[in-house]
Amino acid sequence: MNDHQEINGATAIVTGGAKGIGAAIVRRLTAAGVSVAIVDLDADGAEKLAHEVPGTFAVAADVGDYAAMYAAVDEACTRLNGLDILINNAGWDHVQRFTDTESTLWDKLIHINLKGVFNAVHLAIPRLISSGGGRIVNVASDAGRVGSSGEAVYAACKGGTIAFTKSIARETARHGITVNCVCPGPTDTPLLGEIKQDERAAATMDAIVRATPNRRLAQPDEVAEAVTFFASAPAHITGQVLSVSGGLTMAG
Ligand SMILES: NC(=O)c1ccc[n+]([C@@H]2O[C@H](COP(=O)([O-])OP(=O)(O)OC[C@H]3O[C@@H](n4cnc5c(N)ncnc54)[C@H](O)[C@@H]3O)[C@@H](O)[C@H]2O)c1
Repeated sequence: MNDHQEINGATAIVTGGAKGIGAAIVRRLTAAGVSVAIVDLDADGAEKLAHEVPGTFAVAADVGDYAAMYAAVDEACTRLNGLDILINNAGWDHVQRFTDTESTLWDKLIHINLKGVFNAVHLAIPRLISSGGGRIVNVASDAGRVGSSGEAVYAACKGGTIAFTKSIARETARHGITVNCVCPGPTDTPLLGEIKQDERAAATMDAIVRATPNRRLAQPDEVAEAVTFFASAPAHITGQVLSVSGGLTMAG
């Protein structure tokens, strides 16, 4: 991989690529000439998108399951004939006041949002090194930067993802690998639709939109554009965190 990456002809894994922000990332990367393996727990959803978007194929796996991801990354890299880009986008949330939650919920949130990132990064780094370098982009959340009521463990996972991004960026720079993080604010996806089923969560989301300078949700493609920027950015841009939140959160 070059110091300034030309992504036309590159290869990528996008986790959680079947819908929402992940599907927008799949579409943006393929439009830029990247071949993409869509790794998702939702096998049908991933297959459906792969049929719609040329230059993609689906691989079913739970990102939090190391053995399943070992097989998925192996299949993806064999079919792609290498790996240049890893996008860790798969995520899940359930909004509930922390004191009302049980540890089974914490386990599920950590399994998907944190261990899922560890697994994919651990498995992808040797492949990226074999390609002569590469790009890792982690989709975290502004919840991990500024906290969020009803999302304490999710926010902890996303804050952990931000810290993990910076540490892995330090460890892999000498291999020509960059590791960066995109933090969406509230974004119009199926996940947000699920969260808004709960009346109190819906009211909180509406209040957040009113407090957002742009006065609206992000569209998935706006987040995908930031992800694609890091996927094609020069090697000197690493360990960075970029919010896509309509001005709700601003960098210090
Ligand atoms: N939508 C928002 O408002 C928002 C805000 C901040 C951050 N995010 C983050 O953006 C990312 C994408 O979110 P979204 O809103 O598009 O969600 P979504 O639910 O619309 O899509 C998530 C995708 O991830 C897949 N997935 C879930 N668990 C998985 C697992 N264990 N293994 C493999 N795939 C799995 C789902 O099947 C789905 O295709 C997530 O990391 C989320 O935390 C979303």
